Amino acid sequence: MAESGEGTKPAADLAAAGLQYVQYEGAKEEQYLPSIRQLISKDLSEPYSIYVYRYFLYQWGDLCFMALDNDSNLIGVIISKLEPHRSGTYRGYIAMLAVQESHRGKGIASKLVSMAIDAMAARDADEIVLETEITNTASLKLYERLGFLRSKKLHRYYLNGNAAYRLILYLKEGTALKRPEGGHAHDMGMDMPDMQRMDEAGMIS
Ligand SMILES: CC(C)(COP(=O)(O)OP(=O)(O)OC[C@H]1O[C@@H](n2cnc3c(N)ncnc32)[C@H](O)[C@@H]1OP(=O)(O)O)[C@@H](O)C(=O)NCCC(=O)NCCS
Repeated sequence: MAESGEGTKPAADLAAAGLQYVQYEGAKEEQYLPSIRQLISKDLSEPYSIYVYRYFLYQWGDLCFMALDNDSNLIGVIISKLEPHRSGTYRGYIAMLAVQESHRGKGIASKLVSMAIDAMAARDADEIVLETEITNTASLKLYERLGFLRSKKLHRYYLNGNAAYRLILYLKEGTALKRPEGGHAHDMGMDMPDMQRMDEAGMIS
């Protein structure tokens, strides 16, 4: 797994924006988790507890990428996971994506999403899904430009009552035929056993 900060092994060399793109690493939780939470909670409509972040980062830290400036400040982040889905596919899920407002429109999110797609494809994923608010034009444009398709409209998906689109990117031919899609609940891509375990452990606030 690549490191960040000192002794960093960048997942990609300095990008056009002069940033470093690095894979998350568990040992750097103390350094980066507070800024990851801050960056994500600033813009997304859902307040996630720290356990939700750890659920993803402990198990799929290698599918989480950060854009850092020269002083190792967090500029952008993507958090994802990959696991077998009940439809029979090996499904990637992009749970969170955010770029600092002052750095938007420079291709940083596109780069982070492309890195997550490549990492999942390298791990033999069949498809990648995510949900985004139907009013989030920036997000919809960004994902659709990268090849994601709208697969479903999810009514009253978010706590604020807003609807979402589920977007899907097929990485392998024939994946679209392996249905049913399923999963109406706002489950962050977690299956019920995951959610129940977290609920019982008091992880869901
Ligand atoms: C969505 C978000 C991650 C995009 O980050 P970004 O680094 O600015 O995105 P990029 O620069 O890679 O933009 C890629 C494409 O997205 C589209 N896009 C980006 N910002 C846009 C905007 N404000 N309005 C319309 N389209 C936009 C454009 O098509 C752009 O390509 P182009 O510049 O060649 O036209 C960022 O706006 C953000 O953090 N928003 C708040 C959190 C959020 O909504 N996350 C997604 C939830 S699923």
